[in-house]
Amino acid sequence: MVRAYRMKGQKRKKKGDKYDREDESDQIDGGSEAPPSPKKARTEGESSEAQPESILDSMPGIPMVPVDSGHNKPGVIFILEKASLEIAKVGKTYQLLSSDEHANFLVKNKRNPADYRPDIAFQAIQTILDSRVNKCGRLKALYVRTQQNLLMDIKPHVRMPRTYKRFSGLMVQLLQKLHITASGKGEKLLRLIKNPVTQYLPVQCRKIGFSHSSEKLVDMHKYVGTVDSELDLVFVVGAMSHGKIEENYVEDYLSISEYPLSAAYCISIITNAVEQKWKIL
Ligand SMILES: C[S@@+](CC[C@H](N)C(=O)[O-])C[C@H]1O[C@@H](n2cnc3c(N)ncnc32)[C@H](O)[C@@H]1O
Repeated sequence: MVRAYRMKGQKRKKKGDKYDREDESDQIDGGSEAPPSPKKARTEGESSEAQPESILDSMPGIPMVPVDSGHNKPGVIFILEKASLEIAKVGKTYQLLSSDEHANFLVKNKRNPADYRPDIAFQAIQTILDSRVNKCGRLKALYVRTQQNLLMDIKPHVRMPRTYKRFSGLMVQLLQKLHITASGKGEKLLRLIKNPVTQYLPVQCRKIGFSHSSEKLVDMHKYVGTVDSELDLVFVVGAMSHGKIEENYVEDYLSISEYPLSAAYCISIITNAVEQKWKIL
């Protein structure tokens, strides 16, 4: 069976700073990323840490998808906030906690099962990566911040698992190992990075947050038409079941429907509006 994702061993991190330190240099210069050199990739590949073969073998075959290059044009960045992506040892294995699968475990541990909805982030990520704005190369970045304040960087060209079961296996690996690398290449397709997310955002960008409770109810298609066409657009959407996002880096909070929407449907309205503005068919 083809092994899709190759895990790299990581030394144990100090509590409270769980991120992939190998890319510290990226963060100092504002987050511009150079792919690791082949030499570095080989060195990483020599890690002797045991790999969870059974999970790896069940991952999909091709971890990257071809996307057009839209690099010189303005693009979009998505930030999913308050994502419910938490792992715990249930029985003998680490698992992604969800209200569907772990209600008893959560109640025993005095947690509210209703708060554990990783399916929301799963659907939201899928909607973003499936969008035409991504396929044409104008999705510049996707960040997911968990309710535990862990920040994930997901490369736009990663082929994410399309079933929830495989997605949850991948999240368990990512949260344990801190990064996931493309098979046969040195590129880290998913990794935990250092907060705050603002250090990775372009200088010239518009940071727009989404909340049903915002008093500014807009038609998203008209709204994006009014935004300066030269600016990158940063869209901040909640990936939790209830509550609202209140991030201080957001410049404008919008409500885009009179109705409470799922994060995925909200994202599809956003991507459709941008695709129409930029004439992406
Ligand atoms: C499942 S909802 C969270 C529910 C929460 N009660 C709320 O409406 O903010 C996930 C996310 O979708 C976005 N969202 C949902 N309905 C929206 C609306 N009518 N306008 C703008 N954003 C919306 C928000 O970013 C929200 O955090």
